[in-house]
Amino acid sequence: MNKFDSVKSYKIINSRSDWTIRTEIVLKDGSVGVSTIPEGASKGEREAIELPVEKAVENVLNKIFPVIKAFDPFDQCKIDNVMIGLDGTEFKSNLGGNSILSVSLAVARACANSRKLPLYRYIAEQYGTTKAVSDGISFPTPLFNVLNGGKHAQNNLSFQEFMVIPARNINIEKALEIGVNVYDALKELLHKDNYSTGVGDEGGFAPSDFTVHKALEYIKKAIGEKYKIGKEVFFGTDVAAESFYSKGNYEIKEEGRKMTREQLLDYYKELVSIYPFILIEDPYYEKDIPGWMEFTKEFEDKLIVVADDLVVTNPKILDEVIEKKLATGVIVKPNQVGTLSETLNFIKKAKSHGMTVIVSHRSGDTGEDTFISDLGVAVGADFIKAGAPDRGERVVKYNRLLEIYHNHK
Ligand code: PGA
Ligand code: ZN
Repeated sequence: MNKFDSVKSYKIINSRSDWTIRTEIVLKDGSVGVSTIPEGASKGEREAIELPVEKAVENVLNKIFPVIKAFDPFDQCKIDNVMIGLDGTEFKSNLGGNSILSVSLAVARACANSRKLPLYRYIAEQYGTTKAVSDGISFPTPLFNVLNGGKHAQNNLSFQEFMVIPARNINIEKALEIGVNVYDALKELLHKDNYSTGVGDEGGFAPSDFTVHKALEYIKKAIGEKYKIGKEVFFGTDVAAESFYSKGNYEIKEEGRKMTREQLLDYYKELVSIYPFILIEDPYYEKDIPGWMEFTKEFEDKLIVVADDLVVTNPKILDEVIEKKLATGVIVKPNQVGTLSETLNFIKKAKSHGMTVIVSHRSGDTGEDTFISDLGVAVGADFIKAGAPDRGERVVKYNRLLEIYHNHK
């Protein structure tokens, strides 16, 4: 049996100039698996706990690897369960979600390398979709976050992400071309009107003195220069409503509106009546369950209601979301839950209930990490969120999809 050999773990710098963990696992046959862990800024309250990086590294080296090294690296479920047991807390506060995930993902990569399989094929085996992947790969459609606000930019925009979405029935190369062309057109429009074209954490522009409506108008204009709006290209937004929620009200300061949950619903109705939205993420604060219920009731037939902070890639929390009909789509961020196996279980459960699956980066990410691209292909995710087609740590994920596409043709 091919066994574990050694581990290295140390801190590296991420895209936001914060430290994060990088772990390298080596198997007895010399195969190496490397992982780096992303970091969120607008986090859900029930995400796996991220420990300070020095502590996380120490835990990998002294507490996790010495225990898992006795097990079969190819038994991903077992390895993940051993780490969950070793931690012993609901949100991995003992050993840290970042430490545990860094081992979980590095093990998967080492095993894929040992088997000489591309990572997506190895994950597909874990997930049970090997046949689908070998018969013909389906690529997730990219959600391009072209304008940044909320906690991802220093401007005054309340909504966190304004997304441009290519139609689903085109190939990945064409879809990426749409993202690039719209992004470039938007840059020119902003430039012409003397707005800053500096970018936010996820590569989208972050102009000052913008409103939600103005952002959407600019995007409409940028798309309209080359494509048919509502046919070839659609709108999406991650509201991340928690960032402008306070004591029962939602305040969109830049438009001078302070709203109750009912008024916010009317505000969304207005936006959806003007722009071709096919997806809205985190429209209410995660604890505003009545808000989520009303929103889903209103929009479930018109667009995809996406839960991120509300469900945090957690299979147990997903049960509640399904039972109360709070959303029709989910964001998948492995570091919200802390192991690959739990991430795959979450996706399985979401899919078995007909939910839309969106794999996602984090706002703090690294230029070498393309795990979500392989994950998205392996599980047949509907969409991938990797930011704008700009900034190395965003582009590398889209380019990995192109690499898979060209290697598979
Ligand atoms: P985060 O935000 O990575 O900063 O948490 C991304 C998102 O809310 O989708
Ligand atoms: Zn989100």
